[in-house]
Amino acid sequence: MKTMEINKIVAGIIVAVLLVVVIGKIGSALVHPKELEEPVYPFSDDLMAAADAPAAAPEEPAGPEPILAMLADADIAAGEKVFKKCGSCHDNTNGGPNKVGPNLYGIVGNVVAHKDDFSYSDAVANHGGNWGYTELNHFLYSPKDYIPGTKMSFGGLKKASDRANVIAFLNSMSDNPLPAPTADEIAAEEGGDAASAETGEAPAEEAAPAEGAAETNDNAAGDAAMPAEGGAQEGDAANDNEAPATEEAPAAAQ
Ligand code: HEC
Repeated sequence: MKTMEINKIVAGIIVAVLLVVVIGKIGSALVHPKELEEPVYPFSDDLMAAADAPAAAPEEPAGPEPILAMLADADIAAGEKVFKKCGSCHDNTNGGPNKVGPNLYGIVGNVVAHKDDFSYSDAVANHGGNWGYTELNHFLYSPKDYIPGTKMSFGGLKKASDRANVIAFLNSMSDNPLPAPTADEIAAEEGGDAASAETGEAPAEEAAPAEGAAETNDNAAGDAAMPAEGGAQEGDAANDNEAPATEEAPAAAQ
């Protein structure tokens, strides 16, 4: 009887061990944990480039292109068509009503928040200053960037000719149209915006050296030098060229 008991216990243990082994085998036969062939988030060069891109992106919205020179031969009829985008919110006739936005008769050259009977946002009400050509150019390019907090829900006119034409049209809807910009004002505006146009090009130029930089630093320096020369042809004043050249130097250093 005693040996029978021991045999039973031994047999029990053996069966238990066998079961564990067999079940383990069956388990791994049923389930194959396959290894991923590629990482789920591939850490590729493309991704690195994409990660780099946002760093350059903030430079891109360098602001609206200059429009003063365009105003001289702006197309008022075309501006009236552009104004259809504004007309759902703005009346532009003399003595016309306020709508979602204030009446815009005589707005060009007028003070900001020119209508006493319109309830402006605090941002516009407290902005101060006048709606000169340049202010309107910036506001109409991107209202929310130019006056953060404005309640004018309008994405903006990205085409410079649209802005020039609609501003010319609005200027025609006025008892006191603003005089055409002077040659000095045009030159000053273009001088200022030429600089921002250069920074606008910068991301493209940085992108080129970035590839070069992967190979050798010499290439990167070479690429950076090319756009600098290109800038020399575009710019009319020698001074214009110095700014971009120094801006590109860090790019080459990267
Ligand atoms: C969705 C409605 C809407 C559209 C579309 C719209 N505006 Fe406005 N606009 C407003 C509102 C609302 C205000 C008042 C903004 C505030 O108080 O913050 C305003 C304010 C203005 C002002 C300032 C007026 C002042 O008295 O200082 C100008 C200039 C202006 N808009 C021009 C335009 C032009 C030009 C267009 C078309 C290209 C346009 N808006 C399209 C709603 C609109």
